[in-house]
Amino acid sequence: MNKTIFITGAARRIGKEIALTFSEMGWNIIIHYNSSKKDANDLAEQINSVNPDSAKTVQGNLDIKEDIEKILNDIENFFPSIDLLINNASTFYPTPIEEISEDHWDNLIGSNLKGPLFLIKGLKEKLKGSKGSIINITDTNLIKGIANYSIYSAAKAGLEAITKGLARELAPDIKVNAIAPGAMLEPPGVEWTEEQKNNVIKSIPLNRMGSEKDIAEAVKFLTFSEYITGQIIKVDGGRSL
Ligand SMILES: NC(=O)c1ccc[n+]([C@@H]2O[C@H](COP(=O)([O-])OP(=O)(O)OC[C@H]3O[C@@H](n4cnc5c(N)ncnc54)[C@H](OP(=O)(O)O)[C@@H]3O)[C@@H](O)[C@H]2O)c1
Repeated sequence: MNKTIFITGAARRIGKEIALTFSEMGWNIIIHYNSSKKDANDLAEQINSVNPDSAKTVQGNLDIKEDIEKILNDIENFFPSIDLLINNASTFYPTPIEEISEDHWDNLIGSNLKGPLFLIKGLKEKLKGSKGSIINITDTNLIKGIANYSIYSAAKAGLEAITKGLARELAPDIKVNAIAPGAMLEPPGVEWTEEQKNNVIKSIPLNRMGSEKDIAEAVKFLTFSEYITGQIIKVDGGRSL
């Protein structure tokens, strides 16, 4: 029986690369999206043209509890099992302290922390049945503090705390780990100047930006590592050193 990976925010960028990487290994793919319907459908079509009926899409806003319940209902009968949950979806924008509103809080905590937690809660029994795993995508930059991003940072730090706590709570049935990317892609909708990019690269010992592939490879590594749980793997070219 083919295994199934469920990836949030998988229509584009890093989530899409994880989907393609696991599809190459013959896995079934559940592509979650919120607003990128066309990208999600195109990706499912691309995957299904190679592995027929192996990709399905599901929509939902992870800020909204009812949407999370809808997602869980929708995917219930997509495939016989769920073996791997990747909490990848994320909202990312600055919130300087003097401008912070409760809406910012709800939005950044929703996609980065609340959504992942309630998806894990809803998929726990399925993952237990498949002896599956969970990988939460966090952020290596938390360690040094990110000015103007206090809510985003708090959400990702919370996700790392959940990773460790649930690794204990859900053991030995489900492995729970996190991957903390460094500078992989420019933020969505932002284009850095050459100078900005060079400054970022200067701060990275391996002397290059990361790529979607670097994260997908780390997801693969953790998925097939049978004796790793509760860990946060930094995939950042040494930037956090
Ligand atoms: N890119 C980097 O260099 C970098 C660095 C550090 C950490 N990370 C982490 O790595 C992961 C992937 O990064 P990325 O840059 O590929 O992510 P991204 O493009 O910023 O976001 C991925 C997807 O998250 C979905 N999303 C956002 N808010 C949502 C909500 N409220 N409900 C449901 N879905 C929502 C969006 O889906 P729709 O498009 O369908 O709306 C979006 O396409 C993220 O967790 C990010 O924090 C990335």
